[in-house]
Amino acid sequence: MTGQELYERAVVAADRAYAPYSDYRVGAAVLTRDGRVFEGVNVENAAYPLGVCAERTAIAKAVSEGYRPGDLEAIGISASPCGGCRQWLWEFRFDAVTFRTSNGTIATYTPAELLPEAWDLGAP
Ligand code: THU
Repeated sequence: MTGQELYERAVVAADRAYAPYSDYRVGAAVLTRDGRVFEGVNVENAAYPLGVCAERTAIAKAVSEGYRPGDLEAIGISASPCGGCRQWLWEFRFDAVTFRTSNGTIATYTPAELLPEAWDLGAP
């Protein structure tokens, strides 16, 4: 599955977002190295900071099925990932992150490109 296809899966998934407060729907689709796809959406809450981003929902679904950092190959996202999600993308060591950029193009980056000089527990 290509980055473009993952992005398209994410766009379709975004329709299922629970975003009554921002009305900003985001979808994500994670491809595992063994070929499974986990989709996620943002899930908001009346206590605003408790909301969860689409990327984290999709990654958490994969983790709850047994996948670990290094097992997740690629992710498509319907929007540019926020700073916190970039730290999650770094943690799970994705090869490729595809999303729609602010100028409307579909672009693919590595987590290191999205989060240069990332913080790592234990690293100096
Ligand atoms: N959102 C995501 O789902 N992913 C991101 O990377 C950016 C932001 C969601 C969170 C919130 O529900 C809505 O977009 C508006 O910020």
